[in-house]
Amino acid sequence: MKKYRIGIVGATGAVGQEIIHLLEKREFPVAEARLLASSRSAGLEMDACGNREKIIETTPDSFKGLDMAIFSSGSDISIKYAEDARKQGCVVIDNSSAFRMDPQVPLVIPEINLSDLEDHKGIIANPNCSTAVTLMGLYPLHKRFGLKRLITSTYQAVSGAGAAGLTTLLNELDENPTSEPNNHDSPFPYPIAYNLIPHIDDFRDDGYTKEELKMRNESRKILGLPKLPVSCTCVRVPVKRAHSISVNAEFQTSVNVPDARKAIESFAGAELWDIPNSGRYPMPLGYAEKEDCGVGRLRIDHALPNGLAFWVVGDQLWKGAALNAIQIAESLVKRQWLKFVS
Ligand SMILES: NC(=O)c1ccc[n+]([C@@H]2O[C@H](COP(=O)([O-])OP(=O)(O)OC[C@H]3O[C@@H](n4cnc5c(N)ncnc54)[C@H](OP(=O)(O)O)[C@@H]3O)[C@@H](O)[C@H]2O)c1
Repeated sequence: MKKYRIGIVGATGAVGQEIIHLLEKREFPVAEARLLASSRSAGLEMDACGNREKIIETTPDSFKGLDMAIFSSGSDISIKYAEDARKQGCVVIDNSSAFRMDPQVPLVIPEINLSDLEDHKGIIANPNCSTAVTLMGLYPLHKRFGLKRLITSTYQAVSGAGAAGLTTLLNELDENPTSEPNNHDSPFPYPIAYNLIPHIDDFRDDGYTKEELKMRNESRKILGLPKLPVSCTCVRVPVKRAHSISVNAEFQTSVNVPDARKAIESFAGAELWDIPNSGRYPMPLGYAEKEDCGVGRLRIDHALPNGLAFWVVGDQLWKGAALNAIQIAESLVKRQWLKFVS
């Protein structure tokens, strides 16, 4: 079997660590795992894909000889180095928001829009974590009933803000936080322990945050519905891992719960977990480190015509980042789509 040389940019981070773990777990055919990070980590050693590897500082020359590189170091680093990688014939799968809305760059969830990968030009974007989890529940319903309007509220885990997000929560749990703004180093504007923060990423002039805008724009692009009305509220919650989303969706055709259940049950990557009277509904503790996203609390939305309400939970470090990126890599290999014309 052919094996591939793969770069992991941000190998020491929350997503990078999961990429290494999932490459091993899913037995991706790795000839070389090149671990890239900042100068802070250069020289440290780490186990990856059966070998002890040295972490290398990322530079424009880091991509020589690689078949592909998964970037998880933030938008600035992707913007700085993705083009260098691409010029060296290395396919970039990017976890940041840098290229998601670029019309030349496919934004892909393999279960939904795999065919968009086919004519990639060397850079492929992975969607925002909440968007990916939401669409894993929503897409089968869209296929069955035709989506018309989308309203979501997210409950986003602290590890969505990286390794520092998790450390911050764990440290604050032992303190007595107040509602004063943080005066210590934290990825959050206020204490997150014992709290909820309705503020993720920067605010725009219209009162929405950039994170909320990602849900709107990326859902439109992935579903191929450029005018879809979307309203989203993003909230950080003191959960370690796995994002949850409350979804209210209006459809073009009349809806019913039995058909909605069947649509979700037959969709690869989603698990119907929905017997509320027996206490069966998806929760973050049940979906951390799980490949499938859980869908439950499925019911008619009485406030919308042809409306359905449901609750979807998924591991944002996996389906919202590392797993989706590796599924893209697996698809490129399986369909022989690694070669590209820029
Ligand atoms: N966390 C999530 O759930 C999630 C989900 C979807 C998408 N994402 C996206 O994935 C990316 C990474 O997120 P994360 O949560 O893994 O963050 P993180 O835990 O803070 O990790 C950041 C990584 O970037 C590396 N880095 C920093 N400066 C660098 C530089 N100059 N050159 C190369 N690497 C550098 C860090 O290396 P050092 O250790 O050397 O500093 C570290 O490996 C972000 O774009 C984020 O938006 C995250």
